[in-house]
Amino acid sequence: MTLIDLPASPPGVPLAASWDGTIFSLLDQRRLPHEVVHEVQDSGESVFAAIREMRVRGAPAIGIAAAFGLALAMKDDDGLQGAAWHARLAERAAWLETARPTAVNLAWALRRCCAAATAAAPATGAAGRAALLREAEAILAEDLAICRGIAAAGLDLVPDGARVLTHCNAGSLAVSAWGTATAPIYAAAAAGRRVKVFADETRPVLQGARLTAFELQTAGVDVTLISDNMAAHMMATGEVDLVIVGTDRVTANGDVVNKIGTLGVAVLARHFDIPFWVACPSSTFDADTATGADVPIEERSADEVTDIAGQRVAPDGVKVRNPAFDVTPAALVTGIITERGRITAPLGDGLAQLLG
Ligand code: MRU
Repeated sequence: MTLIDLPASPPGVPLAASWDGTIFSLLDQRRLPHEVVHEVQDSGESVFAAIREMRVRGAPAIGIAAAFGLALAMKDDDGLQGAAWHARLAERAAWLETARPTAVNLAWALRRCCAAATAAAPATGAAGRAALLREAEAILAEDLAICRGIAAAGLDLVPDGARVLTHCNAGSLAVSAWGTATAPIYAAAAAGRRVKVFADETRPVLQGARLTAFELQTAGVDVTLISDNMAAHMMATGEVDLVIVGTDRVTANGDVVNKIGTLGVAVLARHFDIPFWVACPSSTFDADTATGADVPIEERSADEVTDIAGQRVAPDGVKVRNPAFDVTPAALVTGIITERGRITAPLGDGLAQLLG
């Protein structure tokens, strides 16, 4: 099977976001793997809540949701025209951007939709909203092409027999379909290569256990779930050939911001001399932010740490920290796989070249 023959999405894996030309729905990822429930989104508020509560999550999927969410957030404003409509649009976009702070794709998608509506001027009111929807459709369609591009760019990193460790979920459920980190894995498996994946469970929200293990298993890819503290052992015993993870933001110097725990995996990979690859669309590059230290790291609620599956496991009143992301310094990254090709060290120079 070639990349061109790949179906629209990995077999059996539900789509994170769907648009049928009239209705926009989001898969409720908090309920996976037990229940597959798609929720129709009928307002900006419902999309804002879905992003904040992580019913939709993963940087590109957040961007797609925000794009449709902006059009929905303007649905009661068709009566506004000209500057009044644009002022309302700017206010709604600024509000949606606060849903989650770390993934740059959220701000990127909103900026892109606002620019499209401005380019369509004097199309304000209902025509402006139609321009917003067209841009959201374009972002969704492009994301699918981008994931296929990442699959093509990373395919030779996953030879027959490869054993890949991944962290969190940078899979089909985090994008339109196929994923970023998982795209070369799915493509290699579809090409008949024997690929084995270790999925870190990814405490505290368990995206690895609930989402990555679910989608790879559903699609028929050989996946083995491990708890986060097992990664070192798997590497030490020679069971991991390479790491591929996704990212929520890559800064101008090549620092990689991704799910909490990624930094630990990168440090381990360097110690055991295992390649550490990052896969992402070029929309995840943030050329305006110098280093990872400048990126806002989302701090989530304490109960994600004190509770497991709704059951409290920590003593009442204990102090808790819950940073949802960490920064892997560029120096620990072997390279970045994008839809435009791969870049390797020095990443800052490679990024500048890639982005032109
Ligand atoms: O908190 P989440 O689940 O949104 O975090 C997701 C990640 O960290 C992913 O690795 C990243 O967004 C890349 S998704 C292709």
